[in-house]
Amino acid sequence: MTAIQVKPGIYWIGVNDRTTDLFEGLWPITSEGISYNSYVVKGGEKNALIDMAKDIKSNALIDQIAEVVDPADLDYIVINHMEPDHTGVLRGIRRIAPKATLLCTRRAEEMLAHYYQITEGVHVVGEGETVDLGSHTLKFVMAPMVHWPETMVTYETTQQVLFSCDAFGGYGALQGAVFDDQCRALPYYEEQALRYYANIVALFAKPVLKAIDKLKDVPVSVVAPSHGLIWRQNPGRIVELYQKWANYAIEGPEVGVTLLYGTMYGNTEMMVEAVAAGVARAGVPLQIYDVRHIHVSYILSSLYTRNGVLVGAPTYEGELFPPMAHVLDMAARKRIQNRKLAYFGSFGWSGGARREIAELAEKLKWDVTDSWEFQGGPVRETLAQGEELGFRFASAL
Ligand code: FEO
Repeated sequence: MTAIQVKPGIYWIGVNDRTTDLFEGLWPITSEGISYNSYVVKGGEKNALIDMAKDIKSNALIDQIAEVVDPADLDYIVINHMEPDHTGVLRGIRRIAPKATLLCTRRAEEMLAHYYQITEGVHVVGEGETVDLGSHTLKFVMAPMVHWPETMVTYETTQQVLFSCDAFGGYGALQGAVFDDQCRALPYYEEQALRYYANIVALFAKPVLKAIDKLKDVPVSVVAPSHGLIWRQNPGRIVELYQKWANYAIEGPEVGVTLLYGTMYGNTEMMVEAVAAGVARAGVPLQIYDVRHIHVSYILSSLYTRNGVLVGAPTYEGELFPPMAHVLDMAARKRIQNRKLAYFGSFGWSGGARREIAELAEKLKWDVTDSWEFQGGPVRETLAQGEELGFRFASAL
């Protein structure tokens, strides 16, 4: 891809990653990919590079920089965030931009030494500090824990462009369109932004809200994140979405049910259909996930946005079916708390899953409204009980 002008003197450069299977080694992006957005600001007197990319396609990134400015003429490299999906190419870029000063926070300065053994040519910036490039001015705003403690965002004051780093980003490689107004698949990118938020950022809801509040009086004409689309037609849209998602952690999510299930021989799955029919009868939105096949990355979005969780899983060797235990453990790690939960599942010769569900629910601070084990396969009578369970649970949300 070639460098693309965002505003006069401000250019998007960046690379699509369709090679990495697991973002952060955890989250599947095989089919979606991700973009690493980087930006060059050519200020007439000084030039700055803002954020970089994971250590892939570094030649392509360098060629893009060179389309705008000779890398040897870069005066500054702004490190908004140290995670290696933003800084992986740093050592190589530094070799061709030897006079560039790295601008970063105090915490990032420490990390530069640990990650890349860089201790020279670093200038630590403070809250609200500015750097004059000539026709452009960069202002630095601290955004700790969005996503790491060293994170900041950069605001270009003359064109009102916010280089927001991980905030307002999402999965999904760019598909030709770089800007929101060029994109004919906005719902897809919004869905991928939600999954990214639920996977990567959700634990830090309060810092997200704090950063949004800090920027509320700052006029922003373009939101330019490090991943996903650049929002120039409607920059408020992605900010509102992030604000809504962050507020789920404070004010609670929407009414809706995530039905998680696993099954060994189809008995619990038969009951899933009955329970789902009950939820549908109550008229409550429902999303069903088979935890044996669907990666938890996709499930977290639903758990994060809905207030009800139905868990259908058999007992396995006296305990909860292991793939279900993994999903609930991830929910606990992401502190998805204060949900309503109902459990149902089949057992062969003794139960046990129900006991583990109770323990997990306590850890998650989930309120268990029903917990029901049945032996072997369901029959007409038990299926009717299952439908009533689903109806009762959804009606009470
Ligand atoms: Fe895009 Fe926190 O890394």
